[in-house]
Amino acid sequence: MVKIGVQQPPAALKPEKEKAAGGDGAAGAEEPAPLVQGRRSSLSGVCYLTMGLLVLLLGLVFASMYVYRYFFITQLPRESVFHCGVLYEDSLYSPFRGQLELHEDVKIYIEENYEQINVPVPRFGGSDPADIIHDFQRGLTAYHDITLDKCYVIELNTTIVMPPRNLWELLVNVKKGTYLPQTYIIQEEMIATEHVSDMEQLGSFIYRLCSGKETYRLKRRSTRRRISRREAGNCHRIRHFENTFVVETVICGKS
Ligand SMILES: *[C@@H]1O[C@H](CO)[C@@H](O)[C@H](O)[C@H]1NC(C)=O
Repeated sequence: MVKIGVQQPPAALKPEKEKAAGGDGAAGAEEPAPLVQGRRSSLSGVCYLTMGLLVLLLGLVFASMYVYRYFFITQLPRESVFHCGVLYEDSLYSPFRGQLELHEDVKIYIEENYEQINVPVPRFGGSDPADIIHDFQRGLTAYHDITLDKCYVIELNTTIVMPPRNLWELLVNVKKGTYLPQTYIIQEEMIATEHVSDMEQLGSFIYRLCSGKETYRLKRRSTRRRISRREAGNCHRIRHFENTFVVETVICGKS
């Protein structure tokens, strides 16, 4: 009887067996043993339940990830090409020129997280044809001015450029009616700064676009002063869109 210790599980088990084999001992005195047993089994029950719930939860998480991938990601093609056109009011130079049209091809690579834009020679002069890459992985934008055959690189401005997924959604929605509803144009001014010699630091997509071409870093011109006539001769304009509005990027050489 003294042997039965509440804090000693192996000892507590033994008399139980003895009791079962040897028939009826002092049943009243051994009361604590079944109590401990019960508490322990309920404890392990809670353990099993928790583990079961955890497994269930994990299963649910994986199932929903699978469903998400299946319904949302596999539905998006790896590469989408859009031929787009927009009508916009040219308020920058000649407010009376009225509506202009801008065309471009947009390739969106959702998995690789970049966009490539090809701007053809515009029907009405004034801006250069260009290839543009917005690399969201690297956070860089590259402009290849086709007229000059030069590349310009600057940090990606996410206020102006929609991420691949959002742009894809916008263009899919617009596709039904070929043209974006009439929009407006904004202007940004850049100055070419240092020459880039190590092209590989720009990531493989921009590397593919710019390798073998003279490449410069761009700096945003913050002061909103007008470009002087002398400077203007040294500037090139690229009109493009990767959002709901058109952007004119003015790139000026060092002066
Ligand atoms: C991004 O573009 C907007 C609109 O032109 C400009 O106000 C903002 O300063 C730019 N941000 C950066 C980080 O260049």
